[in-house]
Amino acid sequence: MDLPTLKPFFEDKPELLQEILDRYPPNGRRSALMPLMWEVQRAERHIGEARLHEIAEIVGVTVTEAKGVMSFYSTFHEHPVGRFHLQVCRTLSCKLAGGDELYRALVEETGLVSGETDAEGTFSLQNVECLGSCGTGPVLQVNDTYHERVTRTRLAELFAEMRAGREPVPTRERGGDNVSADKAERVDAPDGTSVDAPDGTSVDAPDGTSDEEGGVA
Ligand code: FES
Repeated sequence: MDLPTLKPFFEDKPELLQEILDRYPPNGRRSALMPLMWEVQRAERHIGEARLHEIAEIVGVTVTEAKGVMSFYSTFHEHPVGRFHLQVCRTLSCKLAGGDELYRALVEETGLVSGETDAEGTFSLQNVECLGSCGTGPVLQVNDTYHERVTRTRLAELFAEMRAGREPVPTRERGGDNVSADKAERVDAPDGTSVDAPDGTSVDAPDGTSDEEGGVA
């Protein structure tokens, strides 16, 4: 099989390669498979055939074995994804919280269906199984960031950021995504001053109610 002629990805990254290989004992080099795949994907937004051959050779597995690992995880892509890769959870808890409606809103917004990337390479859309954040559905993952309890309003905000070329700011769980990280870092003390909230706590709205519930209606 003829493969495209590409400079090997790790040729000019010997230190990075060594650092990854050194995480594992000499007889466990195959464990470096996924970290190496991740480095390639992070740089090229997919793992092409030539890169997979290179990585398989480095760690001493067959290309078939490497492909088997790659195809098992939806996080690895055989073809380039968009600058903003949108993964929407389709598993039960998110479905009950509005996951199907979220997916339909994404289809409307992007003109894509699951598995597609737009011609400009800006957006790609993918239905995925449980993202492990079942209590804060519906969940949308944009590149490496989770956005939870996504409402239609929040979705519009996310797209405004992305269309401006910015990565949407990660937000906190509970009240979800509807409370910005900046806001969530401070709470009002009883005497009217502001104090830092302990990590992971949430913020009540000024009227004492919690923030908007998630779901794309
Ligand atoms: S069901 Fe959606 S994150 Fe688990």
